[in-house]
Amino acid sequence: MSHISVLLEETIDYLGVKEDGIYLDATCGRGGHTEAIVKQLTSGKVIVFDLDIVAIEEAKKRLMPYLDKLIFINDNYATLKKHCEANDIKQLDGFVFDLGVSSPQFDDPARGFSYRYDSRLDMRMDQSQTFSAYHLVNEYPLNQLTKVLRDYGEEPFAYPIAKKIVAARLLSPITTTGQLVEIIKSALPSRILHQKGHPAKQTFQAIRIEVNQELASVEKAVSDACALLKVGCRGCVITFHSLEDRIVKEIFKQLSTPPKTNRRLPQQIIDVQYQLIIKKPLTASEEELLNNPRSHSAKLRVIERKRG
Ligand SMILES: C[S@@+](CC[C@H](N)C(=O)[O-])C[C@H]1O[C@@H](n2cnc3c(N)ncnc32)[C@H](O)[C@@H]1O
Repeated sequence: MSHISVLLEETIDYLGVKEDGIYLDATCGRGGHTEAIVKQLTSGKVIVFDLDIVAIEEAKKRLMPYLDKLIFINDNYATLKKHCEANDIKQLDGFVFDLGVSSPQFDDPARGFSYRYDSRLDMRMDQSQTFSAYHLVNEYPLNQLTKVLRDYGEEPFAYPIAKKIVAARLLSPITTTGQLVEIIKSALPSRILHQKGHPAKQTFQAIRIEVNQELASVEKAVSDACALLKVGCRGCVITFHSLEDRIVKEIFKQLSTPPKTNRRLPQQIIDVQYQLIIKKPLTASEEELLNNPRSHSAKLRVIERKRG
């Protein structure tokens, strides 16, 4: 099972890798972005995170020639500050986040991420975590379930779907993705079922985000990574849905916008510490769209630290 890295060239170009730099790849996956960075290093290093131990093990195989320049951390990227400190990394020459799920995770039926296979309800990125999609679907009360589907799936039929889930689990536990897909379909009007796109897509996205607490981790990790950037260095974040993108956009906007001052007081020039390198997020080229369907929803945002 392979993974084609999204917006790889563009991200690496914006990063401007220095041979002696210290970089962070917060989302190792199969190591595509890590490889593109590490092969340009002489004395530099990359600290690489992934919650998924399988991703780390597979990336280690791919990156065998560079292992002396890599520090692998099998933990949530939300803990990056602690791990950078523990590894004596005080500042970063650049960082990359390529958020979400990798193709091997989606394409492995055993992981239960996809509505395309009938498998055990799971969706944990960290297999040592006990809470899974099974617990969410079978234990969340109706109002909490509705909120998750509405907030994280932006699902207009959140309440009818949640109601059907609660009714179905009263009869017997919902254990598979196939059962869940059928329950979702039974809650949707036929005009929606005949629309383009899978009818379970938004519900599955919502459950995955909640199971892995994705948005809270993104917010903390991207803020912490920006704080570690050296002056003149850049951070790149690739997002795949609007909720993630909104969080990154907001963090970058706050960091790059001067605070409002009282116009009646003498005006000071306030230099902001960060600058947006691209005002609008970059999307995949026509060529990439043809070669990699995952790139369709990808957006790259880039920020640079201007002052300390
Ligand atoms: C899209 S893939 C990265 C692909 C990689 N850039 C490549 O080119 O091969 C995202 C990876 O981030 C990992 N991930 C997701 N949330 C995470 C988190 N909170 N902490 C650490 N890793 C996470 C996933 O397990 C997945 O392997």
